[in-house]
Amino acid sequence: MITHHTLSFKSTHIHYTDQGSGPAVFLLHGFLEDVRMWQSLKRYLPKRYRLICIDLFGHGKSGGIGYIYRMDEMAEAVEAVFKALKLRKAHFVGHSMGGYVALAFAERNPDQLRSLSLIHSTSRADWPEKQRDRDRAVAVVKRDCKGFIQHAVPMLFSDKARRNNHKGIAKLISQAITMEAGAVAATLEGMKIREDREAILHFAPYPILILAGVNDTVIRSQDTAEQMQAEFVTGVWFPTAHMAPWEMPKETATALHYFWNEKYEQLRAMSVR
Ligand code: MLT
Repeated sequence: MITHHTLSFKSTHIHYTDQGSGPAVFLLHGFLEDVRMWQSLKRYLPKRYRLICIDLFGHGKSGGIGYIYRMDEMAEAVEAVFKALKLRKAHFVGHSMGGYVALAFAERNPDQLRSLSLIHSTSRADWPEKQRDRDRAVAVVKRDCKGFIQHAVPMLFSDKARRNNHKGIAKLISQAITMEAGAVAATLEGMKIREDREAILHFAPYPILILAGVNDTVIRSQDTAEQMQAEFVTGVWFPTAHMAPWEMPKETATALHYFWNEKYEQLRAMSVR
C-alpha cells in the first residue's frame, strides 16, 4: 500500500510517498518531474523494498524556499524525511537533478547510504556555456513558463519516443505545466550554482552506479565516460536519451535490482557500450 505524507521543513512543506517493506530506497526525480515519474519503474521492482519517493522543492506537492532552490537545501529536506522515518541506511537513486540532490545528501551523510545510483546525472558542476543556457532558460520561463515546458519536455526524450508520440511526453507535460514559473526558475538557478561533487565517486564507502543514455543531450557523454572510470563506480550505457525511467522502466528497474544485489556481471551485460 502506498501512503502519502507531508512534512514541515523550515518555512515550507515536503510531500513524499512511502510503500512496501524491506531495505529502504529513496527515489529522487529530475527537473520538472515529481513522485509520479517512478510509477512505471516501481511496477518492475521486486516487492521486497521500501520505496520512498520525495517531491523536491517546487515540484509535485512540495513547496520551496526562496528564489534559488539550492541542491544542498533540497538535500536537507531529504535528510528531514530520512530522519522522520528513523532510518539508518538507504539506497539512493536520483534521476538527473535528483542525482545532484542525492550527491549533496551523500556529501553530508556518507554513512547513511547503502548505495548511490545516478541515472542520466553527473557529479560535475555546470560549465560556463551551460550556465549561460540556464540564464536564457530563466528568461524564457519568466516570459512564458508553459511554452518553456511544452518545448523542454519533448527534448528530454529520445528521437524514437518523439516520433512514436511516447505517452510519457504528454503525461509529463500535463504534470509539469501546473508548476509555478517562480519554482521552475528557482530550480534552474539552483542547478546552475551547484557544486562539483566528483570527489564522492573516488572516496565513497558504498557502491555507485552511473546509468547513462548514449543519446543524452543534457548530460555530456564524455564527462560521463570519465566519471565511470572512478574506482567505486559501475557504468552502464542504455540505448536511450535522458529518460530511461520513462522509456525503459523495466530495464532500469532490472539494472537497479542487479546493482543492489551485487550482480555486477548481469548488470554490465546490460550495457550497450
Ligand atoms: C533534469 O532532467 O533533471 C535536468 O534536465 C538536469 C539539468 O538540466 O542539468
